[in-house]
Amino acid sequence: MEEEIKKLVHNYFNDEEIDNISIFEKRIIVTLSEKASASPNVEKMTKELEELAEGRRVFVVFTADRETPSLQPQDDKWYVPSVKKIIAVASGKGGVGKSTTAVNLALALSRLGYKTAVFDADIYGPSVPTMLGFANAPGITYDGKHIEPFEAFGLKAMSIGSMIDKDTPLIWRGAKACGAIQQLFNDTNWGDIDVMVVDMPPGTGDIQITLSQKMKIDEAVIVSTPQDIALIDAIKGVNMFKQVGVKIAGIVENMSYYLCEKCGTRADIFGHAGAKAAAAKMGETFLGEIPLHITIRENADRGTPIVYTNPNSEYAQAYLKIAEQL
Ligand SMILES: Nc1ncnc2c1ncn2[C@@H]1O[C@H](COP(=O)(O)OP(=O)(O)OP(=O)(O)O)[C@@H](O)[C@H]1O
Ligand SMILES: [Mg+2]
Repeated sequence: MEEEIKKLVHNYFNDEEIDNISIFEKRIIVTLSEKASASPNVEKMTKELEELAEGRRVFVVFTADRETPSLQPQDDKWYVPSVKKIIAVASGKGGVGKSTTAVNLALALSRLGYKTAVFDADIYGPSVPTMLGFANAPGITYDGKHIEPFEAFGLKAMSIGSMIDKDTPLIWRGAKACGAIQQLFNDTNWGDIDVMVVDMPPGTGDIQITLSQKMKIDEAVIVSTPQDIALIDAIKGVNMFKQVGVKIAGIVENMSYYLCEKCGTRADIFGHAGAKAAAAKMGETFLGEIPLHITIRENADRGTPIVYTNPNSEYAQAYLKIAEQL
C-alpha cells in the first residue's frame, strides 16, 4: 500500500517537486514544493490518492522551499496581550497522543487555579472540538470584531477545525495555513488568560517552524511514545524548537505502559523509558509518563477528558503531576 501511494505521487511529480510523503493510520500527507501548486496534476493526484486511501484523509500541502523561514528567532511575533504564557504541545510524529495530552494538561493547569485556554492549531487533524465536546461554529462578539471562544469544562477554547470543512481534503499552502491560524489566534476574544496550551500540527516542517516563531511560544512540551521510531522524531522536534529559540519544558512519554485492570500485570507494549533516556541524553527535563489505558482513550474520544471526569484516578494524576512541574 505504502509503495503504491508513493508510486502514484511520483507518477505526477518529480523528485524536485516532492518534498515529503507521510502515511499515517488515518491520513496521508503529501508535501509538494510551491512550484507544483499551479499544476492541474494536483487535483488529479488528490482524487486518485483518495480512491487508494482506504478511508484515510488525504492532505496536500505546499512548501516554499527556497523561501523556507530562517531558523533564527524572529521579532515580528503575533501578540495577544491578555494571554500571559503560551505552552506548545508538540510531537515529531503524528498519532502519539499530542491532543489527548494537550487537553488533559490544560484541564490540569485549570485545576491548579490558572485561567487556561486551549488553541488547536493542528491544521492536518484538528481534534480538540471532539475531545472537549464542542461542534458548533463559533459566535461573534457584539461589536462584530472578535470571535467568541468556546467554553468547555472551565477552559476557553478555539480550534482551526471550526474553519475547515471536515469532509473535504485540505489543499492549503503553508503561508495560507499560517495566515488562517494567525487570524484565528489574534481575532479570538480570549480575555485574561494565565496560560494557553497550543495543540501544534505534528512534525517539523515549514508550518511548524513558522508557528513556533510567530506565536511567541514560551515553552514547548514534546510528546512521544516509547518506540525508537517515535523518539527519533521527538528529538527532531526538540531541535526544531531550540533552533527557533523556544525553551523546551520537557518530554512526556505517552502510552508508556499498560496495567491490566483485571490481573494487575504490567506490559510495556511499546517498550518503556525510551523518552526518559532520550531526554537525559539531550539534557532536557523528563516530565513524566502517561500509561496506555482504555479510560483515557474513551474519555478523550467522547469529549469528556479524564482530568475533568475522574481527577482522582491514577491516570488523571499523571497529567496533574506534569502540570505541577510546568
Ligand atoms: N495514554 C493513552 N491511553 C490510551 N489511549 C490514548 C492515550 N493517549 C492517546 N490515546 C488515544 O490515541 C489516539 C491518538 O491520540 P491523539 O489524537 O491525542 O494523538 P495526536 O498525536 O494528537 O494525533 P494526531 O497526530 O492525529 O493529531 C486517540 O484515540 C486517543 O484517545
Ligand atoms: Mg491531534
